[in-house]
Amino acid sequence: IVYTGTGSYERCVRAVRLGAESFIDKAEPVERVVHAIGQALERHRLEREVVQLRRDLGTSSQIIGESRPMRELREAIARIASVPSPVLIVGESGSGKEVVARELHRLGPGERAPFVAINSAALPEHLVESELFGHERGAFTGATATRKGAFEAASGGTLFLDEVGELPPGTQAKLLRVLEQREITRVGGTRTITVDARVLAATNRNLEQDVREARFREDLYYRLNVLVLEVPPLRDRLSDLPALVTHLLEVTCRRYGVRTKQVSPEVLDALMAYDWRRNNVRELRNAVERMVIASPAGTIEPIHVPAELQTAAAGGSGLGKARTYQEQKAEAERRIVLLALEGNGWQISRTAEQLGLADHASLLKIMRRLGIEKPS
Ligand SMILES: Nc1ncnc2c1ncn2[C@@H]1O[C@H](COP(=O)(O)OP(=O)(O)OP(=O)(O)O)[C@@H](O)[C@H]1O
Ligand SMILES: [Mg+2]
Repeated sequence: IVYTGTGSYERCVRAVRLGAESFIDKAEPVERVVHAIGQALERHRLEREVVQLRRDLGTSSQIIGESRPMRELREAIARIASVPSPVLIVGESGSGKEVVARELHRLGPGERAPFVAINSAALPEHLVESELFGHERGAFTGATATRKGAFEAASGGTLFLDEVGELPPGTQAKLLRVLEQREITRVGGTRTITVDARVLAATNRNLEQDVREARFREDLYYRLNVLVLEVPPLRDRLSDLPALVTHLLEVTCRRYGVRTKQVSPEVLDALMAYDWRRNNVRELRNAVERMVIASPAGTIEPIHVPAELQTAAAGGSGLGKARTYQEQKAEAERRIVLLALEGNGWQISRTAEQLGLADHASLLKIMRRLGIEKPS
């Protein structure tokens, strides 16, 4: 803010062009200065908030991870984002399937287009079809008005079918027809309505096995199986864990309105040593939230690590129950080998060489002993 007594209008204009917030003539009362400063601060605060909210809305990618499997996933997403065919997104629970779906949407139809998510498993069977295809008034008891379904709502955008493996058999048949003919009929209706939503389906089930056991329609499986994205489990991309923790700390602290916290190196060790088998990134997110709540200071220490994570925590950090030297050694070895394998794209010979082992057979032997298997 330029506070001027010269009365030279041109110079003030030049100052503003060069980046000054505004200018005030010394002839004006000093309260004007206070007011102008207050306003300038507020404007900057709002600008920062807009940037942050845009980021939260997913204006930029929300996919964290520079590990090789994540880089490959990101490339695959970019490659198929604008293709209209359905995509099947497979991956363990909490691994980030919805994050991938939203990224496909962002790079495909775009954020202004609708993104409609339907979770088949969360819906009672009799409602699934009405949710997907809509219904006409009077189609069933309680259908007091005509209602558009998810396919229509997602028009021009993306329809995300979460837990597609849980769709009842009858609905599976109808979904296949919609995918093939690109038109729907509302429940209780006769008119066909053209739909153009891009369909993304996600599952944490082994659909191939469900097909073999006649729980999932084979024809629908082959229709969905054309473009498949596999979201790697967190344990196969442990090198992404530190960046994920930083990201989750930032998001969580902002949500709770506290200054962004950090984790101590021991805590990071404990998180790296944990076997993320149950709920992947979602489990990590929950752990971060609990640690943020539990720790009063800016740095999260080992005592704030949730108990169930501590039992598996690294040695030397004084966490959890006393564990034997052998147990801790095996764990440290596991971590070393896993990280090296991951960094070398699971190429055995290259990893063995990097670790200074005699040959690839030595590494295979160690992997067998530690129970490490190449992810399928
Ligand atoms: N690569 C990632 N970067 C940042 N956050 C992620 C990433 N992967 C997952 N998350 C976060 O982890 C949580 C779980 O992700 P998401 O809901 O996409 O998993 P999911 O595979 O759909 O799980 P489920 O099978 O249980 O439906 C979300 O809070 C999400 O924001
Ligand atoms: Mg999900």
